[in-house]
Amino acid sequence: MRSYNKTMAVLVVASLIVIVCRVSADLERFEQTTKGDGTLRFLVVGDWGRRGEFNQSQVASQMGRIGEEMDIDFVVSTGDNFYDNGLKGVEDPNFVESFTNVYTHKSLQKQWFSVLGNHDYRGDAVAQLSPLLRKIDTRWLCLRSFVVDAEVAELFFVDTSPFVEEYFTSPGDHVYDWRDVYPPKTYTSHLLKDLELELKNSKATWKIVVGHHAIRSVSHHGDTQELVDQLLPILEANDVDLYLNGHDHCLQRISDTKSPIQFLTSGAGSKAWRGDVNTTNGQGLEFFYDGQGFMSVELTQSDITVVFYDVFGAILHRWTMFKSVLHSIV
Ligand SMILES: *[C@@H]1O[C@H](CO)[C@@H](O)[C@H](O)[C@H]1NC(C)=O
Ligand SMILES: *[C@@H]1O[C@H](CO)[C@@H](O)[C@H](O)[C@H]1NC(C)=O
Repeated sequence: MRSYNKTMAVLVVASLIVIVCRVSADLERFEQTTKGDGTLRFLVVGDWGRRGEFNQSQVASQMGRIGEEMDIDFVVSTGDNFYDNGLKGVEDPNFVESFTNVYTHKSLQKQWFSVLGNHDYRGDAVAQLSPLLRKIDTRWLCLRSFVVDAEVAELFFVDTSPFVEEYFTSPGDHVYDWRDVYPPKTYTSHLLKDLELELKNSKATWKIVVGHHAIRSVSHHGDTQELVDQLLPILEANDVDLYLNGHDHCLQRISDTKSPIQFLTSGAGSKAWRGDVNTTNGQGLEFFYDGQGFMSVELTQSDITVVFYDVFGAILHRWTMFKSVLHSIV
């Protein structure tokens, strides 16, 4: 009886710990209402805020046209929202000049979900997260890490800059706004735990993870080794379908070698044409474009279609995948 009580006590304590952990795994969640017909359509753009320059305005107007054709539900930004050094504060006119005044088409007057890029951390990173910006332009929503439940798909936004050791060990001339991130190892380990829990609990047909830095890339920055080592195993173990990123100023699609994950780079919202490609580590490379453009995603319960467009809105690459029936039942 005594040892039974002891066992019970241990069990109660253990489950309390589990409850506490569950509660502290608090990535903020948002419900995105959709058209209710089981489809979801959105655009993805990254590395864009340059007051319309470097073809940003041309990309924006084609996003508007395609957004209207598709009747999109929202837009995803993969970070590096404002160049060169993020925003100076919530009053920085760069916000209106590079966002509000550029993405003017009526089809783009939808919710935008954004993560921070490394350039955003070189300014007042906290300003981009501020509800004050949402008052200036109600489309804006940028947080460090969060989850969007969009019925047929769930999107998991991950703050990837704090994973990159080089920004801490050799920042060069750059000053990063690491408020609320220090110490980075603690920050990233909590983040990975939270993400893993959210992915495990997700009942969505499609799981999409969004970050600024590439896991796999054949362009300028190459693979982000910290993400290959720490983030990728979690995505592979939890049936993630897509990983969306920016950082490299190009468009690309790479298939994972160990899982069905597709690595999709949409980081071509303004300055591009770097001419810096190295396919030595190019396993799984399916498509690469060095110029400006953006990407669209269309999902139903059974299939997903991804399309890449150039600065004229011409289709560069289209890819469709079907979800196996077995997978959707399980
Ligand atoms: C704008 O896009 C056109 C067409 O791709 C390209 O020729 C031109 O170099 C681009 N401009 C800049 C500044 O990248
Ligand atoms: C290309 O990548 C490989 C392996 O990642 C590296 O060894 C090589 O030096 C790179 N080439 C150039 C020209 O940067």
